[in-house]
Amino acid sequence: MVHAVYPGSFDPLHNGHLDIIRRASNIYDRLTVAVLNNPLKDNKLFSIEERLEIIRASIAGMPNVSADKFEGLLAYYMRETRASVIVKSLRAISDFEYELQMAHLNRQLNPEVETTFIMTATRWSYVSSTRVKEIAMYGASVKKLVPKASFAALKRKFANST
Ligand code: PNS
Repeated sequence: MVHAVYPGSFDPLHNGHLDIIRRASNIYDRLTVAVLNNPLKDNKLFSIEERLEIIRASIAGMPNVSADKFEGLLAYYMRETRASVIVKSLRAISDFEYELQMAHLNRQLNPEVETTFIMTATRWSYVSSTRVKEIAMYGASVKKLVPKASFAALKRKFANST
């Protein structure tokens, strides 16, 4: 049984993330969406619990997918949870250099782990959580870019979001 982990900040989850979750869940037996909890450097819009709540609402109906949080090194979290595959997405060449470095470091820290890459679907290749938050903050609609749970949560944060 292959247990894969899709790590990230997910602040908040957007449609590009959800597409990767769906596709990875078709490849691996079990997929954990793991949210990095970094209490020391918390510049996030949503708390860790809010981000998990959004993810859990969005993965309802995907029986082999669950959500969890982790602190510290991903390579150690992989060991603790007996997961063997890291799932990452690549939107563009610009993501590659950072991801290559992370993949090498994670493999050095835990040689039993493989990092795999799924290319972001073309229709979501321009979407990022940062841009979603910016658009919502200025009151424009992000309805087409995020799952329902993220949309509702963004609406609550930015009362004038449409
Ligand atoms: O969604 P993000 O912010 O691009 O996700 C980045 C994340 C959480 C995958 C990455 O920062 C991470 O794995 N952090 C945990 C610390 C770690 O293991 N770093 C790599 C070795 S230095």
